[in-house]
Amino acid sequence: MKGTVHYQLKGEVALLSIDNPPVNPLSSGVRLGLFEQVNRGLQDGAVKAIVLTGMHRAFIAGADISELGSANTDSISLQETLQNMEASSKPIIAALNGTAFGGGLEVALCCDYRIAAATAPVGLPEVKLGLLPGAGGTQRLPRLIGAEAALTAIISGEPILAAEAWKLGIVDEVVSADTDFVAAAIKYAENIIASGAQTRKVRDLEDKIAADRGNAEIFARAASQLDKTHRNQLAPRQILKCIDAAVNSSSFDAGLEIEQQLFNECMTDPQREALIHIFFAERAANKIPGLDKSTNKINITKGAVIGSGTMGGGIAMCFANAGLPVHIYDNNEENLSRGMQVIADNYKRTVSRGRLTQAQMNARIALISPVKDLDEIADADVVVEAVYENLDLKKDIFRQLDKIMKPGALLATNTSGLDVDAIAAVTSRPDFVCGLHFFSPANVMRLLEVVKAKHTSPLTLASAMSLGKQLNKVAVVAGNCPGFIGNRMLGGYSRQANLMILEGATPTQIDEVLYDFGMAMGPFAMADMVGLDLGWRARKMVGGSNEVTTRIADALCELGRYGQKNFKGYYQYIEGDRSPRPDPDADAVIKRVALETGFPQKQFTPDEILKRCIYPLVNIGARLLEEGHAYRASDIDTVYVNGYGFPAHIGGPMWYADQQGLDKVLVDIENFYSASGDDLWRPSALLKQLVAENSTFADYVG
Ligand SMILES: NC(=O)c1ccc[n+]([C@@H]2O[C@H](COP(=O)([O-])OP(=O)(O)OC[C@H]3O[C@@H](n4cnc5c(N)ncnc54)[C@H](O)[C@@H]3O)[C@@H](O)[C@H]2O)c1
Repeated sequence: MKGTVHYQLKGEVALLSIDNPPVNPLSSGVRLGLFEQVNRGLQDGAVKAIVLTGMHRAFIAGADISELGSANTDSISLQETLQNMEASSKPIIAALNGTAFGGGLEVALCCDYRIAAATAPVGLPEVKLGLLPGAGGTQRLPRLIGAEAALTAIISGEPILAAEAWKLGIVDEVVSADTDFVAAAIKYAENIIASGAQTRKVRDLEDKIAADRGNAEIFARAASQLDKTHRNQLAPRQILKCIDAAVNSSSFDAGLEIEQQLFNECMTDPQREALIHIFFAERAANKIPGLDKSTNKINITKGAVIGSGTMGGGIAMCFANAGLPVHIYDNNEENLSRGMQVIADNYKRTVSRGRLTQAQMNARIALISPVKDLDEIADADVVVEAVYENLDLKKDIFRQLDKIMKPGALLATNTSGLDVDAIAAVTSRPDFVCGLHFFSPANVMRLLEVVKAKHTSPLTLASAMSLGKQLNKVAVVAGNCPGFIGNRMLGGYSRQANLMILEGATPTQIDEVLYDFGMAMGPFAMADMVGLDLGWRARKMVGGSNEVTTRIADALCELGRYGQKNFKGYYQYIEGDRSPRPDPDADAVIKRVALETGFPQKQFTPDEILKRCIYPLVNIGARLLEEGHAYRASDIDTVYVNGYGFPAHIGGPMWYADQQGLDKVLVDIENFYSASGDDLWRPSALLKQLVAENSTFADYVG
């Protein structure tokens, strides 16, 4: 059995210390230890109160995910452990020395009092794995903090810092960082003893929920909010029902029963498996075949960014947010000062939303130094180039970087898909060059594609991955092929969407199918958001394009329809509202171009629309795997979920294909191929192989 709980007598206080390094998950040994040591404290006549704390970094970081779904018959369930604690006739004080997440907070909620170290976050993050707190969390938290605050805390699953937890009423006292925490906890227990050693069971607290009882408005409001923020997701809706039950059920135990039933429904739902897949996929992305943990890394203490546009500014913010000083250089002074202004405005917005203090904002801006001379960035440990997407321009920049950057610096390009080998080749140190592909807005999006070029050394790759961690990104290694992982796949997705509007579908029809599927937005709403004019201008610069799929976008731009920025593109928009509205004028343009191109017009079913958009992702994803441009299918899922708005609860395109059955997916791809002859649909050899072997992407090891 994993983990244990130690027992020490401190005067009239039994000190129980959870020992399951490094973060004390609720493994079998911890659950049993809690049960037995609480009983020992109850039986020990010298003991008047019990203090429960964690050794190591955490109080209890949550369930032991490795034990999820496998019952250890030698131990006991968390429910039994909790019931035993809640039935204690002696007060138990949860002393949250560090993280109390998930089951960890649920343990604390079964104690009579809670005190927390100033650095200890609490939270119920189960929703992120498609679950709900199933050990009473949805019933006890509202009794402490009221329904609305509990809804926010449990549906977001976000950590709550100790000071905030105290304000909300989750913890009774916060112990400052300079105090001996265990001593303070024992002192707290002694005070409880001195004032009569009263117990105080959360299950019996009434005032908060009595105030919410019968107030249907709270739950109606939360439900309509969920339609916007957690579309199609089961667990958040179950959480809502649980909290409704906490407030409105006939008794605490009746609420607990409902929680258990709704928890079980989550457990057997495919969304849970998909979310757990993504959870592990993000961790697996860090493991790079052939690169062990001991690989040397560049010590990155100072960064530099070239280009202060949309991406450069966001990337500089990433460094500053991680506490790293960063230079930002732009050869256009006006753009440089505008870039700095955009950065300041972004931070101001965060301050005005209360997510950053003015002092923090000032400290971050102070870390970003605009420079007018490229030589000033020479001492940076890493430089990220983010100038216009033009190979010759990027080569020119890298020639200069090669001359000025100190030896051993990491030289990275943020290109969206240009050849990183060609960029590296102009330097005398291609081994120090890689792609660092951030996503827009770079200070918000979690994904970072680390592009491994032909000569990228293990040291460079390891350093780039470690920088990703430093910048709080989900870093995934991609091979150097046009568009890398994400944009290469996106190419197939957009191509099919554009072909379908040439064949008679409307943008609304297509976007609705993908939105209902769970994508953050459909391809045409996305195109309007990015701006149709960007591609149009780029095509015009090279004398136009023969590509049929860009004809409609070009025709819209010729009529001055650039997208959201001027309130008309594929859709129309009204000022102050970004929601796309169908526009008969745009539809007429689409119809005209479609007829001009001679595509036979047809009716589309939602099923065809979905398959024609999602299956190119699968087929191209399979090609990336067979070519070795992605290490594993889960890396592709990680890219798509974190960078392209693919619904995490569907697990990413490769996971989705596995769930559909690869044999069925292959049949559809083959049919699309024979109907269109489009190389996009030429079935990937790997996909065929997996079908022949009756295997899955999840089981594929490259
Ligand atoms: N915008 C996105 O969504 C996005 C996403 C991922 C990657 N990218 C890539 O990031 C790069 C930058 O894109 P962006 O959208 O930030 O462009 P942008 O047009 O907003 O900014 C580019 C900046 O580079 C500066 N610049 C141009 N030549 C320069 C030079 N010789 N020296 C120094 N500065 C120079 C310009 O003055 C401008 O400020 C491109 O390679 C693009 O493909 C963009």
